[in-house]
Amino acid sequence: MFLGLDLGTSGLRAVLVSEDQDVIGASEQPLETAHPKAGWSEQDPDTWLRAMHAAAAELKDAHPKSWAALRGIGISGHMHGATMLDADGAVLRPCILWNDTRAHAEAADLDAAAQVRALSGNIVFPGFTAPKLIWTATHEPDVFARVAKVVQPKDYLTYALTGRIVSEMSDAAGTSWLDTGARDWSDRLLEAGGMRRDQMPDLVEGSAPAGTLQGDIAARWGVSDAVVVVGGGGDNAAAACGVGAMREGDGFVSLGTSGVLLAARDSYAPKPESAVHTFCHAIPGTWYQMGVILAATDSLNWLLRLLNMQPSDLAGLLGDHIGDPGRIRFLPYLSGERTPHNDSTIRGAMVGLEIGAGPKDLIHAVMEGVGFALRDNLEALRSTGASLDRVLAIGGGARSDYWVQLLATILNLPVDLPAKGEFGAALGAARLAICGVTDADPADVMTKPEIARTVEPIAAQVEAYESAYQHYRRLYPAIKGAAEG
Ligand code: XUL
Repeated sequence: MFLGLDLGTSGLRAVLVSEDQDVIGASEQPLETAHPKAGWSEQDPDTWLRAMHAAAAELKDAHPKSWAALRGIGISGHMHGATMLDADGAVLRPCILWNDTRAHAEAADLDAAAQVRALSGNIVFPGFTAPKLIWTATHEPDVFARVAKVVQPKDYLTYALTGRIVSEMSDAAGTSWLDTGARDWSDRLLEAGGMRRDQMPDLVEGSAPAGTLQGDIAARWGVSDAVVVVGGGGDNAAAACGVGAMREGDGFVSLGTSGVLLAARDSYAPKPESAVHTFCHAIPGTWYQMGVILAATDSLNWLLRLLNMQPSDLAGLLGDHIGDPGRIRFLPYLSGERTPHNDSTIRGAMVGLEIGAGPKDLIHAVMEGVGFALRDNLEALRSTGASLDRVLAIGGGARSDYWVQLLATILNLPVDLPAKGEFGAALGAARLAICGVTDADPADVMTKPEIARTVEPIAAQVEAYESAYQHYRRLYPAIKGAAEG
């Protein structure tokens, strides 16, 4: 038996699978995020531990026999978080999350420093880890002085389980301290960020063992202390493992809180100026690239809150067919944007509001605007040499047929819907554990899911949406200038 854990921003998911990947049981535990100031986003690592133990207890109660046969654990989690530990391994302050933009000035400075983009392969985005440590050095010098290690959120769970402070390549690549091509910490990047190598966790590959369970945890969970915890993966790498997006040409679009368009790559082909993210994949010798938009379902949920509506109201209101592009354009920059603009200060806009506009028009505009933002990401990915001729849709937003139809038409790509997409990154993490414990070839384990349905672009509408997209593209520079006025 293998356990996959996915520490998501809004909750921790756990899935217990057999070596043949039959799902035996699952558990989900909610998590809270604090926003103590505008642009801040923090979680208390202790809440992650409580969620992990609660999920373990639930699985143990529901499936005692299978649980007792546990052999390996893989962990995935939200990326870029700064979890600062002192010399005793105690947490020094709440974790500063991926969607926290307080360090935007520090990020811009670091991004401009010599060799930083060349070595990390990426823009230093404000949400990445390194600028947060520079912020801490300035604003919380007492905390900074005591930082003995900085780990990624999921690595904190590995530490709690194994007592070992270990990370792996896919999450380490999101720190701006890793030489992403060489798959090792970079002394130059550490120096640029004011950090030292001894403050970094040891590195393993995601599918390699990171440690075994500590005796007290094994006793508490009622499992063997020979259970292996593997390196695991950042959530996007783990989700890619979960849907078999491992090789050139494989990719997915994720409509979650943030939106991601991901392409697996056989080689390292960074292009930071495109604002595409280039990170190590969770298995050796592979990388992936992705465009990230900060507000995908976040944009829709924002609007639904204002309209006092639920996601379940959508299908009835929108009907079955996307129709022509709307006359309202929506720019989904509610929290700034990463790809392609790298702009943490831009904010969203609705353009073309008219007196007759109702909820349906606004909702269509928001879904369409998120689609256009993902189309921007597709163009950015293509500029790096990545080729995608179809994508798999995952994430909560993929449950809306209307949204998927819009996306297929805007991207002009067939969109595959998996039959069982609900376990995503947790399943990917479990798959990494299977590889690490059984030595199985990742190509045999990271298989593609059964496809329930493929949504084709609506040929008769592709041109109309293309010209609406061209209109959308002209709005960012216009809004940028106007908002700064
Ligand atoms: C990726 C990113 C998000 C987080 C949260 O760069 O910031 O996808 O991993 O899920």
